[in-house]
Amino acid sequence: MWRLCVLGFRHQPRLMAASLGLSQLAALPDALLAWWIMQLGRAVIEQRPALVYSAAVGLAVSTTANWLLGTVSTRVQRRFRDRVTIALESHVARLQASIGTIAHQERPEYLDRLSMLRSQVFVLDHMYMSLFSTLGWILRLAVTMTLLVSIHPALLLLLVCALPTVLTSTWRPEVERAAEERGAQAYRLSRHLFTLATTASPAKDVRLTGIGDKLTTGRRAAWQRWYGPVAATRWRSAWWHAAGWAVFGVGFVAAVVFVSAGLGAPADDVLLVLAAGARLSTYVGATVGEIGFLRGFWMDGARRLAWLEDYAAASASLDAVPVPAALRQSLRLDHVSFSYPGTTRVVLDDVSVTLPAGAVVAIVGENGAGKSTLVKLLAKLYEPTSGSILVDDLPLSQMSPITWRARLAGAFQDFFRFEFPARHTVGLGEVARLHDTPAITMALDRAGAGDVIARLPAGLDTQLGATWPDGVEVSFGQWQKLALARGFMRTQPLLLILDEPTAALDAETEHALFERYAAAARGTGSNNGRITLLVSHRFSTVRMADLIVVLDGARLVEVGTHEALMAHGGQYSALYGIQAAAYR
Ligand SMILES: Nc1ncnc2c1ncn2[C@@H]1O[C@H](COP(=O)(O)OP(=O)(O)OP(=O)(O)O)[C@@H](O)[C@H]1O
Ligand SMILES: [Mg+2]
Repeated sequence: MWRLCVLGFRHQPRLMAASLGLSQLAALPDALLAWWIMQLGRAVIEQRPALVYSAAVGLAVSTTANWLLGTVSTRVQRRFRDRVTIALESHVARLQASIGTIAHQERPEYLDRLSMLRSQVFVLDHMYMSLFSTLGWILRLAVTMTLLVSIHPALLLLLVCALPTVLTSTWRPEVERAAEERGAQAYRLSRHLFTLATTASPAKDVRLTGIGDKLTTGRRAAWQRWYGPVAATRWRSAWWHAAGWAVFGVGFVAAVVFVSAGLGAPADDVLLVLAAGARLSTYVGATVGEIGFLRGFWMDGARRLAWLEDYAAASASLDAVPVPAALRQSLRLDHVSFSYPGTTRVVLDDVSVTLPAGAVVAIVGENGAGKSTLVKLLAKLYEPTSGSILVDDLPLSQMSPITWRARLAGAFQDFFRFEFPARHTVGLGEVARLHDTPAITMALDRAGAGDVIARLPAGLDTQLGATWPDGVEVSFGQWQKLALARGFMRTQPLLLILDEPTAALDAETEHALFERYAAAARGTGSNNGRITLLVSHRFSTVRMADLIVVLDGARLVEVGTHEALMAHGGQYSALYGIQAAAYR
């Protein structure tokens, strides 16, 4: 929470100070109402008209000030909140994007935290208001207690009677929160099923498989699995809370009896106990309620934010070794093994291979052999579980992921469809040249995607994605070509990644395109030693690589040129034989 306060103050120092000051000022007239009521009572009993008038005016001014200051304070606080919300959102987004690896966006234990933080970022800003009003309630409580103690110190015991409510209010949100978190998986599943049943992208598969009804009942069941225990916990905690309030009620009645009958105090004192005591219950309730909110909800959000900040700081990898300007020797995997974080299955098992600078390297292997995983490790989206990756003998693990990835280009197999105007969809492959039309056209050309743009109604300025106004949907293969073009925006990468970028194209087009990449790679290869890494299931394409890496069930089984591997007569030549025979 302290971090959130610092963050708020850094962004809006004046508004934050004004909000705090006003919220405390607004607390005073409210707390003093009981005192004015006592004054009024005393003046009436003593029959002193002048005092009656001044007390009545005091009461009126206090009431008006209470309302006025409350309104002004709320307005100022809301203004502060609006301003600080956007700062918080950018903060969370920046933190997430700053994390070099992507494990936190895939693993369930992190995901639940993140999804809660994403939905809570909008309410984190409530924390400030809640904090200010907590302080305001404490001020009211202090003033009221001073008034009561001025009658008799024993009235302090009223606070003791309020203790059970304090305890139940602090304990309540915690157990409710814990119950919600225990069911977070079920809750996420119910959201997921709801999205499946109602959004456009799964719509085709949902209808084809006819699972619409199943989704609805599944969602209902998942929601019930989440809500059942949560509701039971809420009821239980509400009962305890009510019992706590009953204790305070008994104490309050006892205090009034004690002052009037026990002490035989004058009527105006009894009036003060009645007025202040009644308010005390409200103040104690509001204070503990607000603290409960702070602890249970906003502090929880703040804690998640702190976790994200720490996680981002911890994974802000070193920048100990600079990324070389050009590859001189090789990219080398040295006994690299890998399991996805949070899983135990070994996806890459003790892989050692040297990819020489300037080479065109193909990776082949059946589905699930670990080809894309290898590519992701080279892109530093994950760190190897053991072993190391060396860039010209320098450890990749010691390099900044941001600087390293600035030297990568290409397209992943599961590329993302950026629904922007086509120019940006392609151009953001190199943000610095987002508006550089010739560069974009050139990248489109190299990816063989010129025809995609030519068919769009407004060319490069066409909005992509059917859900946008005037948006145009393109086919999967066309999206893939655009993703490939995006990958070609960087002209001087050290590593060009082509993870089945042309799988949706016919074999002939893929062949022609890849021949061009290979030629281009060899042409500029002398410049910076770029390595071109191609994953493909088509051996007609693979065979022209300088080096072919064969993966089988997480292990590297063969490495060599097409000729060498064919002569060797191992797995590669067998698979090649099957495909070649099919084509013949
Ligand atoms: N994010 C992930 N979390 C956990 N396991 C994963 C993840 N991505 C892939 N895997 C597992 O790792 C194994 C290798 O997957 P990978 O995507 O590297 O295969 P591939 O060789 O690229 O296959 P394909 O030819 O189908 O693209 C698979 O068995 C898959 O189940
Ligand atoms: Mg793959």
